[in-house]
Amino acid sequence: MRALRLTDWGSPPQLTDVPTPEPGPGQVLVKIAGAGACHSDVHLMDWSAEEAPPAITPPFTLGHENTGTIAALGAGVTGWSEGDPVAVYGPWGCGRCRPCRLSAENLCERTGELGGMGGGLGFDGGMAEYQLVPDQRLLVPLGDLDLVQAAPLTDAGLTPYHAVKAALPLLVPGSTAVAIGVGGLGHMAVQILRELSPARIVAVDTSEQKLAHAKRLGADETLLSDADAAPAIRELTRGVGAELVVDLVGAQPTVELAAAVVRSGGHVSVVGIGGGSVPVGNGFLPYDASIAGPYWGSAVELREVLALAAAGRLRADVETFPLGDVMQAYEKMRAGELVGRAVIVP
Ligand SMILES: NC(=O)c1ccc[n+]([C@@H]2O[C@H](COP(=O)([O-])OP(=O)(O)OC[C@H]3O[C@@H](n4cnc5c(N)ncnc54)[C@H](O)[C@@H]3O)[C@@H](O)[C@H]2O)c1
Ligand SMILES: [Zn+2]
Ligand SMILES: [Zn+2]
Repeated sequence: MRALRLTDWGSPPQLTDVPTPEPGPGQVLVKIAGAGACHSDVHLMDWSAEEAPPAITPPFTLGHENTGTIAALGAGVTGWSEGDPVAVYGPWGCGRCRPCRLSAENLCERTGELGGMGGGLGFDGGMAEYQLVPDQRLLVPLGDLDLVQAAPLTDAGLTPYHAVKAALPLLVPGSTAVAIGVGGLGHMAVQILRELSPARIVAVDTSEQKLAHAKRLGADETLLSDADAAPAIRELTRGVGAELVVDLVGAQPTVELAAAVVRSGGHVSVVGIGGGSVPVGNGFLPYDASIAGPYWGSAVELREVLALAAAGRLRADVETFPLGDVMQAYEKMRAGELVGRAVIVP
């Protein structure tokens, strides 16, 4: 089968032929229907060995946002049938530590000992015709959801869901939530804020096209990401600042904007991994403000995201590409020309 392989740090991935895997005991082979292209893949392609997370080592097949149908069950796997539509839960932990038993494999205590952080992140991912999933606990039934449209729910949906859910107590009527970067993750973040909270939603992006998209999805206010954004958010909030800022870029100007507009007692969630940083400590942020760098979400939260989508209240806007054109999808992402999410259909 063909697969998009990252063979080494700092070198572009290659579409190559690899043997189709066969599921061993306890494993499941999934025929990929959709594999979302995440901006994290672009970071993976660009990082040097020094910059890359130590828990991930090439070579491996990219693609950590996957849906498909069960193609084959390994010995001992029961309760599933060939043809079942599934989402692949992306962060693969040890399955045994406390966070893993709570379904939060994104926070596994043994990351670093496992040889990777998930399929497409050290282990073989879904930018291929088939993906080998090491354990049935990592599968979630998809029900009637469209297989291609559901792929981004597993990361572009789950990650902002996890970030927003943690901050929901701050979002009461009259509150303001700011989403910086309304691309793949951000266009889901706007919908999740719309569905889960009464907060006024302010979308910030460098692209007018993305801002118009965010507005269609429920953003109340849209602002270009420039020097005027912070004073505009202050003005919108009577000089007080926002209860929640979700930074889905994480670059230096966006983390500085986030820190400048969070209110006292508010929260900044830096989801993007753009390398930006701000000082923390008493006196650096407004009193009682908190800041976190969340990572992905739990398998139970993925079920909640899928339920929200099944209820018709959350959907990824997708542009599809055949596997042979996968690098065009990433080029469009780099150029800022994607609206919503690119999904590779092998
Ligand atoms: N923490 C996690 O668990 C996690 C999970 C998935 C992705 N990510 C990271 O989240 C980030 C977003 O990923 P994505 O797939 O949504 O990317 P994307 O390319 O689809 O979207 C990024 C958006 O940010 C906008 N943008 C760029 N620079 C900006 C700026 N200075 N101000 C405002 N907006 C700006 C772009 O126009 C685009 O709309 C990436 O850094 C990715 O690696 C983190
Ligand atoms: Zn991702
Ligand atoms: Zn674990």
